[in-house]
Amino acid sequence: MSVETTPVHKKEKIAHTREFPPATPQPNVYPLSWENTTTKLQEIWEASQREYWDPEKLPWDTFDVSKFTWEQRESMAYWWTLLSVFDASAPPVFAAAFIKTYEVHEEDVVRRCFFSVTRDEQNHEQVCGLAITKLLEHPDPLTYEPKTDIGIRLQKNAKWLYYNGGRYWDGFKQAVPKYSLAVLFSSFLMGEMASATLFHQLAAGCTDLVFKEAFTKIGKDEGRHMAIVLTLMERDYPKLAQEDKEVITKQIRAGYLFLSAVLFEPPMEFWDLPEDFIANQREGEAYAREAGFAIPEYEIKKENWKKAMLNLKGVLDKYDTDFPAIPECGITGKEISDVDLDDIIPVF
Ligand SMILES: [Fe+2]
Ligand SMILES: [Fe+2]
Repeated sequence: MSVETTPVHKKEKIAHTREFPPATPQPNVYPLSWENTTTKLQEIWEASQREYWDPEKLPWDTFDVSKFTWEQRESMAYWWTLLSVFDASAPPVFAAAFIKTYEVHEEDVVRRCFFSVTRDEQNHEQVCGLAITKLLEHPDPLTYEPKTDIGIRLQKNAKWLYYNGGRYWDGFKQAVPKYSLAVLFSSFLMGEMASATLFHQLAAGCTDLVFKEAFTKIGKDEGRHMAIVLTLMERDYPKLAQEDKEVITKQIRAGYLFLSAVLFEPPMEFWDLPEDFIANQREGEAYAREAGFAIPEYEIKKENWKKAMLNLKGVLDKYDTDFPAIPECGITGKEISDVDLDDIIPVF
């Protein structure tokens, strides 16, 4: 005896009733279209293909960790962990933006560019993992057993950074469908500008070949990401709505507070961190520098971060978008208060 099964919720078939299907409700996630109007992006895409690199093929065999003290190893690993708080969140963040380029039927070349950013960011995350694993002989800085006093204190720092960074993902997921790509770009640009500067400096100063090469390549990638965002801003910002501009101003302030943790020092009113956090981090940075890992000094970090903010201000001024006040860098502008980690569109 056969049992007849009637599938529930099955869409009624219509192909036998008409010659052509009805129009597919839009936006449908996949555009069957490869239109390109922003031709400048084609060059950037081609560069991303040419400049693609494999983190595993960096000269890791030249990197002899046994020449360092454990204080130096744990301190360098801490800095890679600090980078990872930002770099390990970039792949899912850009993957979400990449999906959005399909949902909104962006130009073909825009979809390709966002694909390249997602791919690059995944590379950057891999480098963090490879460096940490080599330095600590353990693949996870949070479950690693520190060997020195500074190692113990830096791991406590790392745990607090991880806790703080864990707070924005839900907010970001809500922000992606809510805001246009144009709004997201301003946050992206900020992260790319800041990281491009930082990585170029690390590349110039680091003495170990593997770090020099890694930072050179990462810095180059970030430069391309910046160019992608700037090109798209040029396309979209002249027709930006006033309400979008207000969101952007707030996002810049939020991005400043968020990214300060890696570009400068974490502002305590925004980050939830223990009192000894900054002292521990400074001590660790001194050990890392002594080992040839060229983390910029306080004043240089401050100067760079200020320069990046002024560059960003220059871009937004062109499009009549208010810049937030950033008194930390001596920049006057619109006062933005009540910024929380939940409001962040984090990118690096
Ligand atoms: Fe990156
Ligand atoms: Fe990037």
